Amino acid sequence: MVLIDDEFDARLAGVATAIEARLAAVLAATPLAGEIARPARLVEAMRYAALGGGKRLRPFLAIEAARLFGRDGEGALRVGAAIECLHCYSLVHDDLPAMDDDDLRRGKPTVHRAYDEATAILAGDALQTLAFDLIADPATDADPQVRAELVLGLARASGLGGMAGGQMFDLQAERETPDEAGIRRLQAMKTGALIRFACEAGAILGRAAPEERAAIRRFGEIIGLAFQLADDVLDETATAEALGKATGKDSSRGKGTLVGLHGVDRVRAMLDDLVAEAAELLAPFGARAATLTEAARFVAYREM
Ligand code: IPE
Ligand code: IPE
Ligand code: MG
Ligand code: MG
Ligand code: MG
Repeated sequence: MVLIDDEFDARLAGVATAIEARLAAVLAATPLAGEIARPARLVEAMRYAALGGGKRLRPFLAIEAARLFGRDGEGALRVGAAIECLHCYSLVHDDLPAMDDDDLRRGKPTVHRAYDEATAILAGDALQTLAFDLIADPATDADPQVRAELVLGLARASGLGGMAGGQMFDLQAERETPDEAGIRRLQAMKTGALIRFACEAGAILGRAAPEERAAIRRFGEIIGLAFQLADDVLDETATAEALGKATGKDSSRGKGTLVGLHGVDRVRAMLDDLVAEAAELLAPFGARAATLTEAARFVAYREM
């Protein structure tokens, strides 16, 4: 079954609204139990980084994957919000002068431009720990083992052997272009790992059977790669107005990307193959997986 675009768009917009509200609530000025105080400037910078923008794709994947296994509601929303916090932290730090040195993000000045570098670093740090706070709280799931599994999965996806490690490889790739395998590894880590975890988190919350969980994990891996390939294509072909961030950055900084290696047309053909592979993986789930199948197309063919 193919979802009509309107239905998909409505679902994505619905998740974005729910995530926005939840992030606004957890980024309130009043300290939580166990916290001492919340510095106004830091809360403000975190709100600036996390609210009012972004596709909210990762929470959408977590929520839709949980829904595939019959879990709707609070747990998935909290996990989605947590993953978005982690993602926003990665964007704030990615934009820092010491990293990609970007001035525009989500159509606004980057956090270090709107505030200052030290505040941007701290806003990133605190968004990262807030992600783990959200997941570890008993409100996410009554079963502590499920919560521990989610915490562990998020840590592995975002740390040394995941996003942060991938960012290190990405910076090194500016100086020495890796081969194709090296680029794929870098992308699987810097972007793929968190997207894969978003999908798998839904399976964890939904107590999926091992083989179903493995299929969802593989689906996440495939769309994670597709996501970064599309980002690299857009960096080459789209406008800053459409993307809300500067473009042409990868080639100007000599970043190792598959677009740089093979060109836009070849990468677009790779995206077609990835979309087909993603659909095949979800076929056993039948019509229940229509939204996730459509998500793969969205990831690959998006224009922002
Ligand atoms: C951008 O991510 C950074 C990458 C991992 C390539 P998104 O394209 O998901 O950014 P937002 O959240 O929609 O702004
Ligand atoms: C960013 O990749 C990946 C992470 C933030 C982890 P990019 O550097 O390509 O993302 P954009 O293009 O700045 O959004
Ligand atoms: Mg970068
Ligand atoms: Mg960047
Ligand atoms: Mg990019």
